[in-house]
Amino acid sequence: MTANNRIVLSSDHAAIALRQTLAAHITTLGWEVVDIGPTTPESTHYPKHGEAAAQRIVSGDCRLGIVLCGTGQGIMMAANKVKGIRCGVCSDTFSARMIRQHNDANMLSIGARVVGEGVALDIVDAFLSAEFEGGRHGTRVDMITALEQ
Ligand code: RB5
Repeated sequence: MTANNRIVLSSDHAAIALRQTLAAHITTLGWEVVDIGPTTPESTHYPKHGEAAAQRIVSGDCRLGIVLCGTGQGIMMAANKVKGIRCGVCSDTFSARMIRQHNDANMLSIGARVVGEGVALDIVDAFLSAEFEGGRHGTRVDMITALEQ
């Protein structure tokens, strides 16, 4: 783990309980969790929560981020609009590991209405324990970054 062991978590109303469960788990792994998601169940708009989490990463405040909504899709789309963010939705551990190893993803998105708590915890573990492999994958990530210009 690098000096910056801070990870930002956020969600919309559809994923509050799962987000809080993940936050408690991630804390036990030694991360400093910055949970900026809503805590009350009123309907809210996932784009603003995805954007706010993404800004914590591009500002350097947090190294990684995890966002959740009902499907994981909308909040992922919003996060990926922020320059410098590479966020993938994962419903399986293989993808969660690979988006770190090959895509250098700095954010993970999970659908709280798609996967159960046990699978979500495994997905988070796979994402957080994997490292970017660089090499040819670095060339490809650089090509993604170039698309932002
Ligand atoms: C909220 O009902 C739902 O649309 C949202 O959580 C998410 O699934 C959007 O992508």
